[in-house]
Amino acid sequence: MSIEIIGFGSAQAEKCVTNADLAKAVDTNDAWIQERTGIKQRYFSVSKNTSDLASEAALMAIQDAKIDPKVIDLILVATITPDGMMPSTASLVQAKCGLNAQNCLSYDINAACTGFIVAMQNAQAMLEAGYIKNALVIGAETLSKILDFNDRTTSVLFGDGAGAIIMRKSSTKQMLHYTRSEGDVHGTLTSDGLALNPDMKYDQVSSHYLRMQGQAVFRFAVRAIEDVIINVLTQTKLEINQIDWIVPHQANRRIIEYVANKMNIDLTKFYLNLDQYGNTSSASIPIALSEMKTKGLLKEDMRVICVGFGAGLTWGGSYFES
Ligand code: UT7
Repeated sequence: MSIEIIGFGSAQAEKCVTNADLAKAVDTNDAWIQERTGIKQRYFSVSKNTSDLASEAALMAIQDAKIDPKVIDLILVATITPDGMMPSTASLVQAKCGLNAQNCLSYDINAACTGFIVAMQNAQAMLEAGYIKNALVIGAETLSKILDFNDRTTSVLFGDGAGAIIMRKSSTKQMLHYTRSEGDVHGTLTSDGLALNPDMKYDQVSSHYLRMQGQAVFRFAVRAIEDVIINVLTQTKLEINQIDWIVPHQANRRIIEYVANKMNIDLTKFYLNLDQYGNTSSASIPIALSEMKTKGLLKEDMRVICVGFGAGLTWGGSYFES
């Protein structure tokens, strides 16, 4: 069955923090960050929680799709930084956007930076099974909540933001996915939740700060992106030169340069905006898609591969036709 994306939206956190701003709080400098990652700035949330950013992006996507919001019958939010444990951020979006209280299901998906790809795959499965007709799929993060500003190896990399799309059945446009995870016993990329607290002590919460073995994740990311591109091309029976855009999770410019070089793919085929936003985890792909739509870069019938990779370790890709 064919699936199409009919609307795109995104939302930024309020505070733009340049590398120079960050260097006032963290032992780092603009030159190191730009040279090692390509990041120039990122946005941190001042008052907007994940559901607020997600709701803003959702409303923009609904407007872009020119649909009656009442027709949305599935809301998925991919996030690793939900407002709380429950209700789901997707349920908060449903309430904040005043969406269809009678005939809609909302839930969150946590597959770290691959979350948006997994959410798209879930939405496609629900559409194809006939359970729903119009899916609102969001990637949204306030990663600044889990950044340790004493740790320069992680705090300079991430940012906050949200992106959203509307998916429905199509008569012509193809979509397919490829997703994987390997149980991570090495703690390569983690953020603990609250610890069990059997003694009911107020101070017995464990650190929820994000921890990452950067080089191990770098090596994994290169392998994951290559695996996704090869698998999607095999499934679609397309050659790389028939693909118009590759939209990767925006983690590090050097990772993309490495893959492009290794796979002999022109770097200009990869859409990159990480210099502006940093790594926004599950929000990075939909933010990029929304920006491409706004800039007129997603033209009719273009072939696009999105690639996500992150904690879990998870990785996956989506192919769609614009
Ligand atoms: O979204 C999830 C996916 N995440 C990723 O894809 C991240 C993948 N990993 C990476 O992007 C890179 O490994 C990093 C950007 C995290 C680190 O880059 P690197 O080239 O692997 O640097 P490194 O960890 O080897 O560190 C090199 C040096 C070290 O100093 P010494 O030991 O050589 O003296 C670090 O202490 O750079 C130092 N360093 C910094 N210096 C200034 C590490 N972070 C910083 C910093 N500012 N922010």
